[in-house]
Amino acid sequence: MAELSFGHNLRAKRKEVINNTLNFLPWAQGCFTACGPTGFNSLETLAPANTVNFNNAPAKMLGIALHEYGSPYQFKVQLCNLPREIRDFEVLVQVQTVSVNPTDCKLRSGSLSQLYPLSLPVLLGCDFSGIIVKAGSAVPFKVGQKIFGRQTLDRIREVHGTYAEYCVADYHEIAEMPEEASFEQAAAVPWAGLTAYAALVRVGGISYKNSTGGRRAVLILGGSGGVGTFAVQIAKHYLRCHTTVTCSSSNAEMMEKIGADEIVNYNDVNFWDKISKPILGQGKVGYNVVLDCVGGDDYWQACQPLLVEDGSYVTLVGAERYGGEEKEYSVGSAITAQMQSGIRRGLGLIGASKRYTVFTPSMTNNEDLSILASLMREGKMVPVVSKMYSMYDIIDAHEHLETHHAVGKCVIQIRKTIPEEEDEQGSQPDDDDDKEIDLANMVLDKTTMRLVPKNSAGGMDDALRQKQLQVTSKLKHKTREEDRDPPKKAVKFQTEEEELGAAG
Ligand SMILES: NC(=O)c1ccc[n+]([C@@H]2O[C@H](COP(=O)([O-])OP(=O)(O)OC[C@H]3O[C@@H](n4cnc5c(N)ncnc54)[C@H](OP(=O)(O)O)[C@@H]3O)[C@@H](O)[C@H]2O)c1
Repeated sequence: MAELSFGHNLRAKRKEVINNTLNFLPWAQGCFTACGPTGFNSLETLAPANTVNFNNAPAKMLGIALHEYGSPYQFKVQLCNLPREIRDFEVLVQVQTVSVNPTDCKLRSGSLSQLYPLSLPVLLGCDFSGIIVKAGSAVPFKVGQKIFGRQTLDRIREVHGTYAEYCVADYHEIAEMPEEASFEQAAAVPWAGLTAYAALVRVGGISYKNSTGGRRAVLILGGSGGVGTFAVQIAKHYLRCHTTVTCSSSNAEMMEKIGADEIVNYNDVNFWDKISKPILGQGKVGYNVVLDCVGGDDYWQACQPLLVEDGSYVTLVGAERYGGEEKEYSVGSAITAQMQSGIRRGLGLIGASKRYTVFTPSMTNNEDLSILASLMREGKMVPVVSKMYSMYDIIDAHEHLETHHAVGKCVIQIRKTIPEEEDEQGSQPDDDDDKEIDLANMVLDKTTMRLVPKNSAGGMDDALRQKQLQVTSKLKHKTREEDRDPPKKAVKFQTEEEELGAAG
């Protein structure tokens, strides 16, 4: 896993953002005159009864805000209001890293808007790792503790998600980070890891207790993705199952390294014939559980003969193929899918077919996060983080995930994106470092419209920082637009400026 390459050099990226700022200052000047303060007022409505106040946190935080449903180009990195209060069972977390999940993409595109309507603008994001900066009175964690966790869809919808410098979380949805794990690894775990664990153990019925009993076997369709890479390790190293996976040939080596016993390339002709049926003893031949991370009715049909008599087929996707044409999930289509799933489940229960379950997020259990932390501590589960991005690379991150061929997990390093943050790796300063401009140490001279070193008397106030961020963010968009041939979707600079101007 160590040999998987990481996405970007953040130091270079920061330099690029600043250089762009310097190069395009005349253009930027136009933005400044048009920009007014943007509000993110929904974040200040977090003040229910029974709350703990805190005053020492900053007033503003950086967040990746989604203003409209659509492509990843709808994202904007901007200043938002920090939540000012938490309830007694909640923590305020300084977010270090977040991971990107297919659900984030579906929420962003609007394909889930009928089932989970968002109140836009919103901060998306389910998974996070970070440091507790404030804890409610009923919280069994301490300030300063490193934790990882997830946000429920309801919290994202009604409050906000984790794509920001800070987030509020229910303590039931977090766990202490294993010392052995980095923030990047920990952030990769919650959504995908809990899904993999619950699909195999809670729904699939493969328990750890039986691990010394008869042989068990698991087939994972789509083993190289976010959920699959956790499922392989849980099945092999925790549940001690014979583990077969399907993936493309480029991921076969990685699959073997993390524990797959048998690897089948799903691009091969007649690949189903290449999947052997393991002999489990006591007359049982086949798989106890098929975990389907890919979807499609043809997969369900092909897998029935591969399952043992009381075997279970658990699909994360259902009848549609992951990566197929994007569809709108309406209330009607959800009911139809659940009815179809119910009929199949019923047929499974009376023995007319194998057991079939369409997995839903409600089948996961937060308590399992501690088990996953233990597996990391024991070295039985190592998150496969294949790409790391900065906040400004959110478009790349979503586009990459939407190829449907991401390996393991992709994460966004929130904290390392923030200009004030020093390089945590403690790298030796080189000559080039002298020329590197840190936005935190610069202010905008309103007369010359140039970035100049911050003088000792004055800091960069929120309004100025906001302006700089708008410029760097816009320049980033502008550069992206120019880089692409042809651009996937025009970025609406004008519209945004008009909006911001109107707001001001
Ligand atoms: N219902 C739920 O509660 C729930 C929870 C989590 C996830 N999900 C869903 O489960 C699916 C997988 O999630 P994820 O996070 O693992 O996604 P992911 O990280 O994007 O998965 C990408 C992987 O899928 C593999 N893949 C794509 N097409 C394939 C095919 N035809 N056969 C085999 N492998 C294929 C790719 O492998 P190659 O590169 O080798 O082709 C890639 O490694 C998504 O649809 C997600 O929305 C549902």
